[in-house]
Amino acid sequence: MESLIKRAAKDLAESKYAIALTGAGMSTESDIPDFRGPKGMWTTNKEAEAKAYERYDLFLNDPKAYWEELLGLRGIYGTFREQIRQAQPNPGHYALADLETLGILKCVITQNIDGLHKKAGSKRVLEYHGSVNAVRCISCGSRFPWDEISPDELPPRCHKCGAALKDDVVHFKEPIPSDVMEESEKEASRCDLMLICGTSAVVYPFANLPRMARFHRGVTGLDVMGHKANVKIIEVNADPTPLTHEGVSDYLIQGRTGEVLPRIVKEAKKLT
Ligand code: APR
Ligand code: ZN
Repeated sequence: MESLIKRAAKDLAESKYAIALTGAGMSTESDIPDFRGPKGMWTTNKEAEAKAYERYDLFLNDPKAYWEELLGLRGIYGTFREQIRQAQPNPGHYALADLETLGILKCVITQNIDGLHKKAGSKRVLEYHGSVNAVRCISCGSRFPWDEISPDELPPRCHKCGAALKDDVVHFKEPIPSDVMEESEKEASRCDLMLICGTSAVVYPFANLPRMARFHRGVTGLDVMGHKANVKIIEVNADPTPLTHEGVSDYLIQGRTGEVLPRIVKEAKKLT
């Protein structure tokens, strides 16, 4: 483990454009369960997983009922959301914020809706699956802070175009908002180092991003395998993922992000 931590610190210190990709594993040490880990929400509650696949359709068919559920006026989803809004960052989140302050990390692209990267001080965060702290208009794409909506009229309406607002969280079967998707693909294609933390890397289209970094077409400097030679892809995760097995990542540091990432930053600080 120690040699891999030193290797990651050296790779980060030598990188010109490093970015981080994160998933629910980043926040388990902030007492927010992940989805597919041993104690994950989908692993332990198949019914909740099935319901999660119906949520977007519910919004499209009955936005009032959708909002009643969201506001905890019915079902459990509301309470889970409140649990997330109360959560606090852990040392893993602060370590990524430190890497940004050191000028090493250019952005964090996260699947997490919990807002903990921003709470930890990260400035450039792309919330690929949205945030519990915002609402979004699926008609004109405008976003507004969650606290601006009033539960008096359900569904709440967009201040710009009058369409029904949805919370910003992206559900299964819902399209990824084009602004965050385009920005994320640009970052994945231009990075020379990708640090992937706490994700099983099985949910698409997010899981395409590491492959874009590895196989981005049209970039000179591809090696014989068509690999973009100059990109380093490092995983920090409790378990190996398809990226590990398929050789998309260069190496995996198997451990808890809240322990491994601060150690990498400590080593990187010695090199910068
Ligand atoms: N440190 C490192 N890895 C961890 C930790 C930890 N403290 N805790 C859990 N893990 C690992 C798990 O072993 C698992 O491999 O993090 C991974 C989390 O994977 P998932 O639960 O699948 O979460 P994620 O990849 O973010 O899911 C993607 O799926 O359900 C949807 O929209 C939801 O954004 C989510 C998406
Ligand atoms: Zn609108």
